[in-house]
Amino acid sequence: MALEDFPRYPLTFGPSPVHRLDRLTEHLARNGGGAEIWAKREDCNSGQAYGGNKTRKLEYLVPDAIASGADTLVSIGGYQSNHTRQVAATAAKIGMKCVLVQENWVDWPDSLNDRVGNIMLSRIMGAEVRLDPAGFGIGFKDSWKQALEDVERRGGTPYAIPAGASDHRLGGLGFAHWAGEVEQQERELGVFFDTIVVCSVTGSTQAGMIAGFAGQDRPRRVIGVDASAKLQETRDQVARIARGTAELIGLGRDLRDDEITVLEGWAGDLYGIPVESTLEAIRLTGRLEGVIIDPVYEGKSMAGLIDLVQDGEIGRDSTVLYAHLGGQPALNAYSALFR
Ligand SMILES: Cc1ncc(COP(=O)(O)O)c(C=O)c1O
Repeated sequence: MALEDFPRYPLTFGPSPVHRLDRLTEHLARNGGGAEIWAKREDCNSGQAYGGNKTRKLEYLVPDAIASGADTLVSIGGYQSNHTRQVAATAAKIGMKCVLVQENWVDWPDSLNDRVGNIMLSRIMGAEVRLDPAGFGIGFKDSWKQALEDVERRGGTPYAIPAGASDHRLGGLGFAHWAGEVEQQERELGVFFDTIVVCSVTGSTQAGMIAGFAGQDRPRRVIGVDASAKLQETRDQVARIARGTAELIGLGRDLRDDEITVLEGWAGDLYGIPVESTLEAIRLTGRLEGVIIDPVYEGKSMAGLIDLVQDGEIGRDSTVLYAHLGGQPALNAYSALFR
């Protein structure tokens, strides 16, 4: 099967905007860099609850959920999960119920962590939010199985969506589609992005990109920046999902190891806790571009981009596409950092 053969339920506005980050490009050039920096904006890709990368993945899961006869989407994430907020929005949009297990993934001392930002939005959209004390982990959890069983016991039919919609057969398709969108926008804009920089945690965003780009004529680098502080797990997950997705969309060859790049160095010691480079990247992007990024994901990948460009790891003749994957609602739980 090819990617076009998979049904896609529209949740996005269409192709997400791509634009040049002029002042960030100039700033990096003054500080040793030279690459041109552009962004593709998944943070404004949809009219549902601010959108984000999960909205794209869910476009391919929704037809499967509807075909399964489900009436309730069940998913899992941290208290400030962007993913669960997008699942809640999707359930509202398609007229299903929604049960969310929200775990204490981040030991973050903000008394409003389980009340503001993403979790508040999910409650507004009518999701049943279940707080659970379990810590960070992208695997399958008992609390999640329990939620699925509870839906069934109440006479409902659950559709299970794992953390980040990643460990799911169709989880990589959204960003395989994104790769095709990039190619089309390049033609329209007359540019070629030789390097993509993307944040990786549950893996299917980067994995989908890798599988999608692998079928195109011109090779390019997809650099994942780990934000989970568990590099090996992230790398394994990206590799596994990229290979699964490549097979699903009929790539017709194995992905090489050198097509799968996940770098460490900007996650700090823990998922969800920003470090100095994260905060610098957030301030710099805000002050130079008026673009807002978050302390859990995008602040870390932008910190990676800044260093890689300034150190010459991404060369002066490169044109870089920064995948802005959304995530700003979580900033509400981090207000103490910006007082
Ligand atoms: C804003 C944001 N950026 C990046 C990521 C990482 O994407 P993935 O989990 O597909 O690796 C996520 C979700 O985990 C996210 O919400």
